[in-house]
Amino acid sequence: MLLEKLISVVAASATLLGGSMDAALPDKDIDGTLFLINRQNAVSELYVPPVREVVANGMNQSMRDDAATALEEMFEAAKEDGVRLSVVSGYRSYSKQATIYQRKVATTGSEEKADELVARAGTSEHQLGLAMDVSKNGSSSLTERFAETEEGQWVYQNAHRFGFIVRYLEGYEEITGYSYEPWHVRYVGREHAAAIYASQEPMETYMTDYKLQVYDFLIHQDTNEVLP
Ligand code: DAL
Ligand code: ZN
Repeated sequence: MLLEKLISVVAASATLLGGSMDAALPDKDIDGTLFLINRQNAVSELYVPPVREVVANGMNQSMRDDAATALEEMFEAAKEDGVRLSVVSGYRSYSKQATIYQRKVATTGSEEKADELVARAGTSEHQLGLAMDVSKNGSSSLTERFAETEEGQWVYQNAHRFGFIVRYLEGYEEITGYSYEPWHVRYVGREHAAAIYASQEPMETYMTDYKLQVYDFLIHQDTNEVLP
């Protein structure tokens, strides 16, 4: 279902774009929910998404509207389960990200160490307005210990139901480029979040597999093969 939808969107967009399939793919659609941003795929300092405020338990941050609505639903569901979460860091402009990165270089003493922890300006999901760092209510600390807490476990097990993935998983540092961040959730929409959660793979791997299926289908469609 997801794949069929994607194929029709890609085929239609590629036609509009004069046959450029890559530009039509969802990981290159900056206003979509699957835009893949990482060390290899940066955005311009001019990119500023439309964002709105999200207020949760007395703290406020900003996100893109689709992500903000989903986050509010997630926080409400958490509350119903007796779990109270806070927002710590949402949308960050290119220049704010540059400041955070420089600060991390200063506190860790090297760019190499900072690169494991903070994205350089232009390469952060926070600039897309689709990421939120969440914490246990009343705390603004972001540490790996969050994974052991009731709140961290709730986020890990439930975020996908609201369209979020825990983006930087333990054991996938070589692929994602970053240390484990159990507090950083990224909005991709419910269907993809559920598929990524079930695959236990990082978004990079998911998007590669997904695109391969699309290419494979498009290459073979002239032979009238039926999509499995
Ligand atoms: N900490 C994540 C990687 C960021 O800076 O976007
Ligand atoms: Zn983050």
